Amino acid sequence: MEKEVTDMSVQVKNWSVSFEKYPVLHNINLEFNGQGILAIIGPSGCGKTTLLKSINRTAELDRGFNCSGKILLNGEDIYQKNDAASIRRRVGMVFQTPVALPMSVRENVLFGPRYFGERNKRKLNEICERSLKQAGLWEEVKDKLERPAGELSGGQKQRLAIARALAVEPEVLLLDEPCSSLDPNSTMLIEQLLTQLSGTLAIVLVTHNLFQAKRVAHQTLLMMAGQVVEYGPTGQLFSKPARQETADFISGLTW
Ligand SMILES: Nc1ncnc2c1ncn2[C@@H]1O[C@H](COP(=O)(O)OP(=O)(O)OP(=O)(O)O)[C@@H](O)[C@H]1O
Ligand SMILES: [Mg+2]
Repeated sequence: MEKEVTDMSVQVKNWSVSFEKYPVLHNINLEFNGQGILAIIGPSGCGKTTLLKSINRTAELDRGFNCSGKILLNGEDIYQKNDAASIRRRVGMVFQTPVALPMSVRENVLFGPRYFGERNKRKLNEICERSLKQAGLWEEVKDKLERPAGELSGGQKQRLAIARALAVEPEVLLLDEPCSSLDPNSTMLIEQLLTQLSGTLAIVLVTHNLFQAKRVAHQTLLMMAGQVVEYGPTGQLFSKPARQETADFISGLTW
């Protein structure tokens, strides 16, 4: 990517979500300047995935979705736009279970660019190589681009999913527990990769692994029961938490 430093800020203002009549997120406020990595932590069911999916406008695809408040990307209110597809292109998402589409490695990477109408063969080749290099996978797959992606290992599939997300040049990358099914070595590779990528795009990482948040995140947000408990620089949140709930959570008392 040409950009040296990301300028993509994410602001969440009084954001609430319910499904049917059940409230899930309550008045979430968050300002992330897009520099480095933002980790979101919190107990199961507290709303982490719903918050991520709100940021790329995929939460609204679920039945009964209702929302209030604002989400701004670089100052622009994304829920004021009719074109949700353009937001989903600008804000990529990688899921917990590595998803390899039932097609070749190459076509997995090119899925997004083709969807958005890219037909130029030379351009598609460039995108494929660039994205796989950015995802730290090129050396391992450059000789098997036409092989079914299902043949890759779990860690490779997860980096392939990252390459697929990067192929459409998003400004923000959301990752929902991307390492939870991976071994320590694959986890380390992905953490290194995210650290490198964080110079060129804004990264929001949901993780159950507090060590991972400590290792890679510059900012950390702790959520509980659909609310923000504490948000601040990672070092501070872990070493000098301002709230008793945070202290209890990071010491493992409230998992
Ligand atoms: N589409 C939906 N319809 C109804 N309820 C939902 C929907 N999606 C999420 N919820 C509810 O919202 C709450 C938060 O779910 P969410 O998946 O955001 O939590 P989470 O923090 O990501 O949990 P986990 O750590 O287990 O992944 C849960 O009570 C869940 O049942
Ligand atoms: Mg989740």
